[in-house]
Amino acid sequence: MANIVVVGAQWGDEAKGKMVDYLSRRAGMVVRYGGGNNAGHTVVVDGETYKFHLVPCGILYPEVVCVIADGVVIDPAVLIAEIEKLTARGHSVSHLKVSQNAHLIMPYHRLMDQLEERRRGTGALGTTGRGIGPAYADKATRNGIRMHELMDRARFEERLREQIAEKNLLFTRIYESEPLDGKAVLEEYLEYAEKLRPFVCDTVSLIGEAIRRDVGVVFEGAQGTLLDLDLGTYPYVTSSHPIAGGACLGTGIGPTAIDAVVGVAKSYTTRVGAGVFPTELTDDIGDYIRERGHEYGTTTGRPRRCGWLDSVVLRYAAQVNGMSCLSLGLLDVLTGLDTVKICVGYQVDGAFTQEMPCDLPYRTDLQAVYETLPGWSEDISGARCLDDLPETCRLYIRRVEELAGVPIATLSVGPGRDQTIILPTAHALLEN
Ligand code: GDP
Ligand code: IMO
Ligand code: MG
Repeated sequence: MANIVVVGAQWGDEAKGKMVDYLSRRAGMVVRYGGGNNAGHTVVVDGETYKFHLVPCGILYPEVVCVIADGVVIDPAVLIAEIEKLTARGHSVSHLKVSQNAHLIMPYHRLMDQLEERRRGTGALGTTGRGIGPAYADKATRNGIRMHELMDRARFEERLREQIAEKNLLFTRIYESEPLDGKAVLEEYLEYAEKLRPFVCDTVSLIGEAIRRDVGVVFEGAQGTLLDLDLGTYPYVTSSHPIAGGACLGTGIGPTAIDAVVGVAKSYTTRVGAGVFPTELTDDIGDYIRERGHEYGTTTGRPRRCGWLDSVVLRYAAQVNGMSCLSLGLLDVLTGLDTVKICVGYQVDGAFTQEMPCDLPYRTDLQAVYETLPGWSEDISGARCLDDLPETCRLYIRRVEELAGVPIATLSVGPGRDQTIILPTAHALLEN
């Protein structure tokens, strides 16, 4: 099988989990390459719902090696809880591997995330509060603590002492907050070390070997293109690289190892947290989409902001990810609307553009320009091939494909594994 990167084409929560689960059935390895437990990936199997935050979605297939790679920031408590939950539900995790080079999320990262958000006041980013930004910041400033250091008691004690001393100065002198108890953190993390030890290894070699043996590796993206630290709507972004290039940075593979990039998109758009959202609907239609799509965060439970599909975003995502094809989901959510709209461009400074403006995050004067198509009222959740869909729905899909500029490989009409329509592009690109 090909080595495939699955990326979010919008602002996250596009149903990457469902796509990774679909591809996992034929893969030899599934690798999470970035982000942390800000992610929440849902897989529904036979009516049972699984929500993954750190563990790759392939874990439900016992023969698939699942890797949490270098680029992921790991909150050990969350990972252990996830492992224990899966085990309690009868799933083996013996095929889970965790990178020795992954950075740890420490209690001071969570605290800094929350204090920073409070300090920003009305300019808050709406982070998940999980310590993601501060953990990646420590990595960049060479202050991070990595998994292999946690495995070495003396080394970990030394690194923690040094970091706690510095962070406590920040907490007490800058944020006017309470210091952390270093001894308590040490005891807590030494317990985590023993629980995680069996999983920790050199994953760069492991992934390299899987690529050489041609087992078929799926790289599970987290977040979405517009949340990328460099290519997203900065500063309203996360602190990692969700784009396809992040799969190289976060795992140790080279770009030539990637055979295909699947961009996952909803048939509309959602966003959690603050920041620009040109097609946002703050009216009844937005509420209709939120309720029908159960658009509440998998990680934080926050209501997601909802809006029409934005083809400027999709084209941009196709470009920066080198997208081979698109996986278009949640089509069933749009059922029941008289008309459906697609944003085909923006009106900026009195001119129409179909390009992503480089100052998009700061534009308050930008207007989305829409094309209106007829809706459909039939229940499409049982559709299993294109011909099962109403003509107006097929028209919508064709128009999205044209505007995005990449072929659509799969369609999704419900959260279940079987509620998927596989198109010829999928056979050509993803199944060989
Ligand atoms: P991810 O973070 O990209 O993996 O996406 P999330 O799991 O956060 O959010 C996607 C949500 O949509 C989950 O609750 C899925 O179970 C659900 N879902 C996936 N595909 C479909 C679909 O085609 N229709 C509907 N109604 N829900 C879907
Ligand atoms: P998945 O993988 C949707 C958003 C947060 C916030 C911004 C920064 O499930 O698609 P952070 O805690 O990362 O510093 O928050 O990024 N965000 C997500 N939104 N889905 C996600 O993950 C997200 N991960 C982060 O809401 O706006
Ligand atoms: Mg999610």
